[in-house]
Amino acid sequence: MKTAEYSPGLEGIIAGTTTISHVNPDLCSLMYRGYDIRELVKHSSFEEVAYLLLKGKLPTQGEYDEFCALLKQERDLPDVLVDAFKTFPKNSVPMDMLRTGTALLALHDPDKDDNSHDANVRKAIRSIAKFPALIAYSYRINRGQEIVKPDNGLGHGENFLYMLQGKKPDAYMAHVFDCSLICYADHGFNASTFSSRVTVSTLSDIYSGLVAAIGTLKGPLHGGANEEAMKMLQEVGTPENAEAWVIDALATKKKIMGFGHREYKNGDPRAFILTEMGAEMSEKLGDTQWYKTASIVESVMHREKNIVPNVDFPTSYIYYLMGLPIEIYTPIFALARVSGWTAHMIEQLDNNRLIRPKALYEGPDHLDFVVRAQR
Ligand code: CMC
Repeated sequence: MKTAEYSPGLEGIIAGTTTISHVNPDLCSLMYRGYDIRELVKHSSFEEVAYLLLKGKLPTQGEYDEFCALLKQERDLPDVLVDAFKTFPKNSVPMDMLRTGTALLALHDPDKDDNSHDANVRKAIRSIAKFPALIAYSYRINRGQEIVKPDNGLGHGENFLYMLQGKKPDAYMAHVFDCSLICYADHGFNASTFSSRVTVSTLSDIYSGLVAAIGTLKGPLHGGANEEAMKMLQEVGTPENAEAWVIDALATKKKIMGFGHREYKNGDPRAFILTEMGAEMSEKLGDTQWYKTASIVESVMHREKNIVPNVDFPTSYIYYLMGLPIEIYTPIFALARVSGWTAHMIEQLDNNRLIRPKALYEGPDHLDFVVRAQR
């Protein structure tokens, strides 16, 4: 058996192969199935990207139409889930509700006991289709509001905004939101994707992998960072306050949320795309306070620590400008990443070997056992 060097946090360790996405820090690029996300953001849609990730190729027009129709057909939730949301404690955290909602969804899936490739693709499509309603319905019910049923005249992302906010977004907002979903859709062996692959590598099911992934994404070092980044910008408050705030935070060894990355040390391509969009959106809306504050935080972080923003920094103020509640930002990340998670779990199961690394044991051995009465 091969033995490998120990690397804390598995940094630099190759833990498997994939053909789904290519994170290339040297070129500062991210490709899905060989297509640069910059191209996908320009010419594609979240639905097309989800198809690409799942099926490994771009759809023809006919395949695209069929896929979108299937997503629409699967958008709504069984009534029992809506009833279950009514029993959740008030002010539950949306990521917790999404995790529980996903576990409940599993019980009602017609393919729940079938772990074949085809059934897993069907379950993947269903979960991609239903995540928006899981998030929007549970959020609204938990806050005492009526649910807003899906509008099949709207695309995937804009329908989510409609179900959450109760009003249709304008075309520009819908476009920026869709681009953010494309940027969030997949990212190599990130922590949540890896935990989903570990889960199904035991031949467990896709929904168990999704529950594991949602729990993993929730943490502030991963998907939870977009919410923390916005709370931080609110604390900073104004562009005038930004430099002193960052210097003080660094002096007290605070982590600046939305900055740094395990893989990208010179820049996250998703952050470049979305920062540009954030600037444009701020100008269009005539509300530049957050973008200007964020830009100063960025330049001070670069000057003081040579650390640059990741995807979660620009999405934080983009979503804020869209009027979205902060606690929904990480569920939005999940709404997009469910496409990557399911593609990865299917790839894992199609060529499975149990993921089971070694631990470097550092405790004592061969201690003399002393019976309890004599300790
Ligand atoms: N603020 C201040 N210092 C930082 C930051 C930051 N955001 N990120 C890294 N550093 C420093 C860190 O303190 C350490 O310094 P030193 O060597 O002096 O102790 C050095 O940079 C290396 O950092 P690390 O934490 O060992 O790096 P890592 O590869 O283990 O962690 C990270 C990567 C993303 C967890 C980390 O950069 C971080 O905590 N960032 C803030 C949370 C965040 O934005 N997460 C989102 C990640 S990207 C999208 C996603 O997956 O959601």
